[in-house]
Amino acid sequence: MTLIKPQEKIALANRIGYDSIFQVVSDFYDAIKTHPTLAGPFGSVESWDEHKIKIAQFWFVVLGGKPAAAFHYDPVAKHFAAGFTAPLLEDWKTLFHGVLQSQLEAKLADEWFDRVELIGANLLRQNQRLVQQPPH
Ligand code: HEM
Repeated sequence: MTLIKPQEKIALANRIGYDSIFQVVSDFYDAIKTHPTLAGPFGSVESWDEHKIKIAQFWFVVLGGKPAAAFHYDPVAKHFAAGFTAPLLEDWKTLFHGVLQSQLEAKLADEWFDRVELIGANLLRQNQRLVQQPPH
Protein backbone atom coordinates (compact mmCIF):
# COMPACT_ATOMS: atom_id res chain seq x y z
CA MET A 1 0.00 0.00 0.00
CA THR A 2 1.29 3.45 -0.87
CA LEU A 3 1.05 5.94 1.94
CA ILE A 4 0.11 9.48 0.92
CA LYS A 5 1.99 11.99 3.04
CA PRO A 6 -0.32 14.69 4.45
CA GLN A 7 1.49 17.52 2.65
CA GLU A 8 0.86 15.83 -0.70
CA LYS A 9 -2.90 16.26 -0.27
CA ILE A 10 -2.50 20.02 -0.19
CA ALA A 11 -2.34 21.62 -3.63
CA LEU A 12 1.09 22.88 -4.63
CA ALA A 13 -0.44 26.37 -5.01
CA ASN A 14 -1.29 26.38 -1.32
CA ARG A 15 1.99 24.81 -0.22
CA ILE A 16 3.84 27.64 -1.99
CA GLY A 17 1.21 30.30 -1.22
CA TYR A 18 -0.12 33.08 -3.45
CA ASP A 19 2.30 35.72 -2.15
CA SER A 20 5.37 33.63 -3.02
CA ILE A 21 3.88 32.73 -6.41
CA PHE A 22 3.38 36.43 -7.09
CA GLN A 23 6.97 37.18 -6.00
CA VAL A 24 8.41 34.58 -8.40
CA VAL A 25 6.29 35.97 -11.25
CA SER A 26 7.22 39.56 -10.41
CA ASP A 27 10.99 38.88 -10.29
CA PHE A 28 10.77 36.82 -13.47
CA TYR A 29 9.14 39.60 -15.50
CA ASP A 30 11.44 42.24 -14.03
CA ALA A 31 14.33 40.14 -15.39
CA ILE A 32 12.54 39.66 -18.75
CA LYS A 33 12.52 43.43 -19.33
CA THR A 34 16.32 43.47 -19.79
CA HIS A 35 16.81 39.95 -21.15
CA PRO A 36 18.79 39.82 -24.43
CA THR A 37 16.35 37.61 -26.37
CA LEU A 38 13.08 37.82 -24.42
CA ALA A 39 12.72 41.58 -23.85
CA GLY A 40 11.83 42.11 -27.55
CA PRO A 41 8.86 39.71 -27.77
CA PHE A 42 7.53 41.08 -24.46
CA GLY A 43 7.51 44.62 -25.88
CA SER A 44 3.75 44.09 -26.50
CA VAL A 45 2.98 44.13 -22.75
CA GLU A 46 1.36 47.47 -21.97
CA SER A 47 0.95 47.18 -18.20
CA TRP A 48 3.49 45.04 -16.32
CA ASP A 49 1.42 45.40 -13.13
CA GLU A 50 -1.63 43.86 -14.82
CA HIS A 51 0.45 41.23 -16.60
CA LYS A 52 2.04 40.11 -13.33
CA ILE A 53 -1.34 39.75 -11.60
CA LYS A 54 -2.80 37.86 -14.56
CA ILE A 55 0.15 35.46 -14.74
CA ALA A 56 0.34 34.98 -10.96
CA GLN A 57 -3.36 33.99 -11.07
CA PHE A 58 -2.63 31.67 -14.00
CA TRP A 59 0.07 29.84 -12.01
CA PHE A 60 -2.01 29.76 -8.81
CA VAL A 61 -4.80 27.93 -10.68
CA VAL A 62 -2.44 25.70 -12.73
CA LEU A 63 -0.79 24.64 -9.47
CA GLY A 64 -4.17 23.62 -8.05
CA GLY A 65 -5.42 26.76 -6.28
CA LYS A 66 -8.97 28.08 -6.42
CA PRO A 67 -9.38 30.93 -8.95
CA ALA A 68 -9.81 34.33 -7.27
CA ALA A 69 -10.44 36.27 -10.48
CA ALA A 70 -11.99 35.43 -13.86
CA PHE A 71 -9.26 36.22 -16.37
CA HIS A 72 -9.62 35.21 -19.99
CA TYR A 73 -6.57 33.45 -21.44
CA ASP A 74 -5.79 32.71 -25.07
CA PRO A 75 -2.16 31.60 -24.76
CA VAL A 76 -1.72 29.70 -28.03
CA ALA A 77 -2.83 32.63 -30.23
CA LYS A 78 -0.93 35.15 -28.09
CA HIS A 79 2.31 33.19 -28.20
CA PHE A 80 2.01 32.68 -31.94
CA ALA A 81 1.57 36.45 -32.33
CA ALA A 82 4.57 37.08 -30.04
CA GLY A 83 6.84 35.00 -32.29
CA PHE A 84 7.22 32.03 -29.90
CA THR A 85 10.00 29.62 -30.97
CA ALA A 86 11.78 26.59 -29.48
CA PRO A 87 14.98 28.59 -28.70
CA LEU A 88 12.97 31.37 -27.00
CA LEU A 89 11.19 28.71 -24.95
CA GLU A 90 14.58 27.38 -23.79
CA ASP A 91 15.66 30.89 -22.75
CA TRP A 92 12.32 31.44 -20.98
CA LYS A 93 12.64 28.15 -19.06
CA THR A 94 16.27 28.82 -18.07
CA LEU A 95 15.35 32.23 -16.67
CA PHE A 96 12.26 30.89 -14.89
CA HIS A 97 14.22 27.99 -13.41
CA GLY A 98 16.80 30.39 -11.98
CA VAL A 99 14.12 32.53 -10.32
CA LEU A 100 12.36 29.45 -8.90
CA GLN A 101 15.60 28.14 -7.41
CA SER A 102 16.52 31.48 -5.88
CA GLN A 103 13.09 31.96 -4.24
CA LEU A 104 11.75 28.57 -3.20
CA GLU A 105 12.94 25.50 -1.37
CA ALA A 106 14.23 22.86 -3.81
CA LYS A 107 11.25 20.48 -3.65
CA LEU A 108 8.68 23.21 -4.33
CA ALA A 109 10.83 24.69 -7.10
CA ASP A 110 11.18 21.25 -8.74
CA GLU A 111 7.46 20.50 -8.57
CA TRP A 112 6.56 23.89 -10.07
CA PHE A 113 9.20 23.45 -12.78
CA ASP A 114 7.69 20.06 -13.75
CA ARG A 115 4.52 21.97 -14.66
CA VAL A 116 6.54 24.51 -16.63
CA GLU A 117 8.04 21.68 -18.71
CA LEU A 118 4.60 20.21 -19.44
CA ILE A 119 3.01 23.51 -20.41
CA GLY A 120 6.06 24.59 -22.40
CA ALA A 121 6.04 21.34 -24.44
CA ASN A 122 2.32 21.75 -25.03
CA LEU A 123 2.68 25.40 -26.14
CA LEU A 124 5.48 24.38 -28.49
CA ARG A 125 3.37 21.60 -30.06
CA GLN A 126 0.39 23.88 -30.56
CA ASN A 127 2.59 26.70 -31.88
CA GLN A 128 4.23 24.40 -34.42
CA ARG A 129 0.77 23.44 -35.66
CA LEU A 130 -0.04 27.14 -36.21
CA VAL A 131 3.31 27.75 -37.93
CA GLN A 132 2.49 24.96 -40.41
CA GLN A 133 -1.11 26.16 -40.84
CA PRO A 134 -1.30 29.89 -40.01
CA PRO A 135 -4.79 31.18 -39.04
CA HIS A 136 -6.55 33.01 -41.91
C1 HEM B 1 6.44 27.38 -20.38
C2 HEM B 1 6.60 28.58 -20.95
C3 HEM B 1 5.56 29.68 -20.94
C4 HEM B 1 4.42 29.81 -20.20
C5 HEM B 1 3.86 28.86 -19.14
C6 HEM B 1 3.78 31.05 -20.60
C7 HEM B 1 2.58 31.53 -20.10
C8 HEM B 1 1.94 32.65 -20.54
C9 HEM B 1 0.58 33.02 -20.20
C10 HEM B 1 -0.38 32.22 -19.34
C11 HEM B 1 0.30 34.19 -20.81
C12 HEM B 1 -1.02 34.97 -20.80
C13 HEM B 1 -1.73 34.62 -22.08
C14 HEM B 1 -3.05 35.36 -22.25
O1 HEM B 1 -3.20 36.49 -21.78
O2 HEM B 1 -3.96 34.78 -22.88
C15 HEM B 1 1.51 34.59 -21.52
C16 HEM B 1 1.65 35.76 -22.23
C17 HEM B 1 2.75 36.07 -22.99
N1 HEM B 1 3.81 35.25 -23.26
FE1 HEM B 1 4.19 33.48 -22.42
N2 HEM B 1 4.54 31.66 -21.55
C18 HEM B 1 5.64 30.86 -21.79
C19 HEM B 1 6.65 31.10 -22.69
C20 HEM B 1 6.78 32.22 -23.47
C21 HEM B 1 7.84 32.46 -24.43
C22 HEM B 1 9.00 31.49 -24.76
C23 HEM B 1 7.61 33.68 -24.98
C24 HEM B 1 8.44 34.31 -26.06
C25 HEM B 1 7.92 34.70 -27.20
C26 HEM B 1 6.41 34.21 -24.36
C27 HEM B 1 5.85 35.45 -24.64
C28 HEM B 1 4.67 35.92 -24.10
C29 HEM B 1 4.14 37.26 -24.35
C30 HEM B 1 4.80 38.34 -25.21
C31 HEM B 1 2.94 37.34 -23.66
C32 HEM B 1 2.02 38.56 -23.56
C33 HEM B 1 1.00 38.60 -24.64
C34 HEM B 1 0.18 39.85 -24.46
O3 HEM B 1 -0.67 39.87 -23.55
O4 HEM B 1 0.41 40.78 -25.20
N3 HEM B 1 5.93 33.30 -23.46
N4 HEM B 1 2.47 33.62 -21.36
